[in-house]
Amino acid sequence: MPEASPIPRSRPRLLAAFCGVGGDTCGYQRAGFHVTGVDVAPQPRYCGDVFHQGDAIAFIREHGHEYDLIHAGPPCQFDCTLTAGTNATRRDRYPDLLDPTRAALEATGRPFVIEQPPGRAARRMRVDVALCGEMFGLAVIRHRNFELGGWHALAPVHRPHRGRVSGMRHGRWYTGPYFAVYGQGGGKGTVQEWQQAMGITWTDVRKEIAEAIPPAYGAWLGEHFLAHTRAQAVAA
Ligand SMILES: C[S@@+](CC[C@H](N)C(=O)[O-])C[C@H]1O[C@@H](n2cnc3c(N)ncnc32)[C@H](O)[C@@H]1O
Repeated sequence: MPEASPIPRSRPRLLAAFCGVGGDTCGYQRAGFHVTGVDVAPQPRYCGDVFHQGDAIAFIREHGHEYDLIHAGPPCQFDCTLTAGTNATRRDRYPDLLDPTRAALEATGRPFVIEQPPGRAARRMRVDVALCGEMFGLAVIRHRNFELGGWHALAPVHRPHRGRVSGMRHGRWYTGPYFAVYGQGGGKGTVQEWQQAMGITWTDVRKEIAEAIPPAYGAWLGEHFLAHTRAQAVAA
């Protein structure tokens, strides 16, 4: 396990576990955090301040206590809709990282955020906050659930969607204000349209954009965490 780099004390420190290209990271940076990312795969386009390649759960166990907040978005294939129903037999190909990740986070004693898409995982986590692109005026819907450990925030109210997601669905073409930022199929928008819709401009790799959350979500979480800490300091 690599040594964690010294981190400036002038900024609050965030550990982004399973960081990918850094959709969440970018948002936390915007909120004022210094961000260290950990991913098992090389991430040459990662936008954070420091990157460690390695197992995120091992890193959380070894270094998690050094951070003010830990954000963990473990891969969801074990529990997502793609491995439900007729694809249920494929579920065993993927490790279940949700429970081991939560156990590692709790062992640090530090505040944390667990991020998962809606689906079966939502039954195995407390959904404290659910965010949607429409709350931020984005051209993606991208619902994501968040469990907050050791801190809390008032969840924003879900806004009605302005229309449908553009593209082919079951052989029929739909037009609408949102892009489908996943997969390879036709009608899903150009890379530039995906970049704009998500607010992710530092990579043009479709898979990296498709796996990310919009930076607006990380910024919302980071700003609310800092407001929570300030309120706690005043109350103390
Ligand atoms: C859904 S992506 C995360 C995207 C990120 N939340 C964002 O906003 O850009 C999940 C990432 O977990 C990484 N991963 C999978 N297993 C891992 C492990 N055991 N340790 C660290 N990273 C892992 C994958 O390489 C992938 O980049």
